[in-house]
Amino acid sequence: MKHSPSILLTFAVVLIALSTAKGLELFEPSGTEDFNGRIIDITHRYVPEMPSYGTNKGLRQILNRTTDQRRNDLTTNSELKMPVHSGTHTDAPSHVFIEYLEKGYDIDSLKLETLNGPVLLVDVPRNMNISDIALSQMNIPKGVKRVLFRTLNTDRKLMLQKEFDSSYVGFTKSGASWLIKNTDIKLVGVDYLSVAASDYLLPAHLILLKSREIVVVEGLNLDKIPAGPYTLHCLPLRLVGADASPTRCILIK
Ligand SMILES: *[C@@H]1O[C@H](CO)[C@@H](O)[C@H](O)[C@H]1NC(C)=O
Ligand SMILES: *[C@@H]1O[C@H](CO)[C@@H](O)[C@H](O)[C@H]1NC(C)=O
Repeated sequence: MKHSPSILLTFAVVLIALSTAKGLELFEPSGTEDFNGRIIDITHRYVPEMPSYGTNKGLRQILNRTTDQRRNDLTTNSELKMPVHSGTHTDAPSHVFIEYLEKGYDIDSLKLETLNGPVLLVDVPRNMNISDIALSQMNIPKGVKRVLFRTLNTDRKLMLQKEFDSSYVGFTKSGASWLIKNTDIKLVGVDYLSVAASDYLLPAHLILLKSREIVVVEGLNLDKIPAGPYTLHCLPLRLVGADASPTRCILIK
């Protein structure tokens, strides 16, 4: 086939434009882009610049190419190395109880029935941690088993900032106790790296994870999603012995 130079040039320009758009897309904070479809991705992308608990250095490089086709290896292979509590992740009871660690209540012991099913996305009053007072104001109906708590963390875009910020919003001790006493919630989702506010780090985790009936999912991307009911699917990896696992979580409208 014969092509005029101008057609070829147009083709080249389109190709460059397409590849540029694709390149830019890689740097967009994505996760909730599928608004026209029924699936909403509420998982953050695992990138070196995402925050990591207690450090200003971020997650840093998690992939290491052990073979690389660009170095004339037959295929490209990567090793994955990251803390199990990275990005969007689920905690196991063994995270905060030595006896649960010893008994094998690892991430693989969590029930898929709890991690998947009807869920309510709610807004926490922006001037509050998730305390007994905040929860009692939110009027979460009895019978609701799964709740994703959107807080000031989302407005502050804390999951998109490399430096760990200890002033994040999370459960207080009173909030954790109130939830156990007054609700039927079995899955708690939050929008930063820890379910517990930093002043209550261990006590709030202990209260929530003690019964081994409540599953805690942390580091969710809840930005720009209307509050309300959805179906949740969260699938941690079956990392035997692990106290947490990175987790893909989606909402279905
Ligand atoms: C990455 O993989 C190479 C090849 O297996 C290895 O020599 C190197 O130590 C690894 N680096 C890190 C940071 O794990
Ligand atoms: C939540 O608690 C943390 C300390 O645990 C504090 O730094 C932060 O200011 C509190 N946030 C709000 C909105 O009260």
